[in-house]
Amino acid sequence: MKQWMAAALTAWLMAALTGCGAQPSASGPAAPVQTAEAAEPAGTGGAQKQEGHKVLIAYFTWAENTHVDDPSSVDPDASTSASVLPPGNTAKLAGWIQERTGGDLFSIRVKEPYSSNYDECLDRAAEEKQSGARPELTDHVAHMDDYDVIFLGYPNWWYTLPMPVMTFLESYDFSGKTVIPFCAHGTGGLAESVDDLRAALPASATVGRPIGVYRPDVDSAEPRIDEWLESAGW
Ligand SMILES: Cc1cc2nc3c(=O)[nH]c(=O)nc-3n(C[C@H](O)[C@H](O)[C@H](O)COP(=O)(O)O)c2cc1C
Repeated sequence: MKQWMAAALTAWLMAALTGCGAQPSASGPAAPVQTAEAAEPAGTGGAQKQEGHKVLIAYFTWAENTHVDDPSSVDPDASTSASVLPPGNTAKLAGWIQERTGGDLFSIRVKEPYSSNYDECLDRAAEEKQSGARPELTDHVAHMDDYDVIFLGYPNWWYTLPMPVMTFLESYDFSGKTVIPFCAHGTGGLAESVDDLRAALPASATVGRPIGVYRPDVDSAEPRIDEWLESAGW
């Protein structure tokens, strides 16, 4: 069992035993999906149709940040290897958001790709989180000033945003913009990612209502993505 899975399981067991979930967002093993509807304001408004916005969908996914020498050697059913081959889970969610909003897609990519070995990737990600690393990115959004709504997609890595997403957030001025998080995750749900995102943004930025999709549910999540967008007026 991976370290983050063991930690999530322990937290869930503690919550179940004591009857009080210290980390309500850290879903137990059976928790399928996390939306955080109640916790977050719908930053892009309610039923009103969203028009006149310039939308960017920026996302980070492991599959576009690693290299697999022999794709045929990857077992697509293995829970740990499934997301090394494109499209990654977050990329799938990003694609559906793009189709519905008509926004521009941007893949956040690191200069130095992660290992396609799960344990090695876990180790590097843990070190980067521990040291507050800001891995260098390959590309820059050319006209960020033009966008007023940014859907930001990421996998939960070690209970939060992957550090390259922090690099992305610190590369632009998000003042006055709306950032709407979407996350693909394991049993840990959104964990601390939305709080960490908010802390990384200027006070004048708005964080929209996030959606989290549990890894095994990603392939069938398009209707949920549609409902989520619909409820925010997209
Ligand atoms: C380095 C690493 C750390 C992870 N840490 C967590 C975690 O703390 N909690 C969790 O629920 N899932 C964790 N996961 C699982 C991913 O969030 C999940 O597999 C996600 O669907 C991957 O999305 P992607 O295919 O877009 O990269 C981790 C995965 C990796 C590779």
